[in-house]
Amino acid sequence: MSTLHDLSWPEYSALSIEQKVPLLARPDGMPYHTLFAQQFGRKELDRICALATKIRFIAKSREGMAFLAGLLPHKRAMIYFTQPSSRTFLSFLSACQILGMRTGEVRDSAVSSEFKGESREDSIRTFSSYFDLIVMRTQEKGLAEHSAWALSSSDRPVPILNAGSGKDQHPTQALLDIYTLHRSFEKRGGLRNRTVMYVGDLARGRTVRSLSNLLTNYEGIRHVFVAPPQLQIGQDILDMLRAHGAEYEVSDDMRAWLPRVDAVYMTRIQDEWDETKGESARIDTSRFKIGPDEMRLLGPNAILMHPLPRRDEISTECDSDPRAKYWRQMRNGMWVRTALIAATFDCGEAIDRY
Ligand code: NCD
Repeated sequence: MSTLHDLSWPEYSALSIEQKVPLLARPDGMPYHTLFAQQFGRKELDRICALATKIRFIAKSREGMAFLAGLLPHKRAMIYFTQPSSRTFLSFLSACQILGMRTGEVRDSAVSSEFKGESREDSIRTFSSYFDLIVMRTQEKGLAEHSAWALSSSDRPVPILNAGSGKDQHPTQALLDIYTLHRSFEKRGGLRNRTVMYVGDLARGRTVRSLSNLLTNYEGIRHVFVAPPQLQIGQDILDMLRAHGAEYEVSDDMRAWLPRVDAVYMTRIQDEWDETKGESARIDTSRFKIGPDEMRLLGPNAILMHPLPRRDEISTECDSDPRAKYWRQMRNGMWVRTALIAATFDCGEAIDRY
């Protein structure tokens, strides 16, 4: 079987996602580079969820924390974020700290040599010379993938974790969303035959794209996409769901669906992608917001999620409702990213044995 570095970039990019997955995997099937959601099958998802739960319990004691911090003190991570971020950045930073890694960061290409005209490829190669892991968030779709390919023919092909690329993918957010769904339904029949409703900017929100992909690993999930017509989900996602035999609905009536769903996944209007100034502000989004009235329509066992940051799509009055899971979801991000880094560096068994 060929490996990533046997292929030229045109040869690699012509492959289907299914053909790419084994080229990016470790021998145990876990991703080596985590670039897109499709790299996770049910086995990998179950493993990440189980590891995250173990780590969460181990981290409750001083001895446990010391054990975790002893796992990767010999590895350093570069956190390279050229798009704004609070949660993803801080949770990756915390995850590295929990595992005893030291970190470096560039959060603005204006302060790196890119400003002097260095190519992204050379910047990444530079990071790989000093660090053993690169976590990256970029505006550019496909840059994480290209970087993984470019490093594969260098003498330091360090793992790359995609922490958000363009409007396209946000695989680690999808992992923490899955973990939150898994934890919420664990004691109530599990995450099968559930209806998940996504609301908001589905055209430009990468979190929904990655999450709907991961949810195809669970039986009987029905997807409901609710947005103003201008911000509806892309046809490629609907085609992907159809190919998996998953049921879906496209609607602009959130209130009609609220009583019928198990999980609501709210998202922010992603106006940073507007092509003309003020374009999003002209769209009527008033029917895509949740406050106390909408919470009354939502079923008693349903949950409310949001990748955050929020604006006004969920009012703060919802925060104390036990069905609101977004703060827990955020903390889950730290455990899931710790689990992913641990798996990337083969620490899973040591954690199992603890
Ligand atoms: C999201 C992102 O950056 O894609 N946030 C996150 O990672 N938690 C969604 C957003 O910015 O709205």
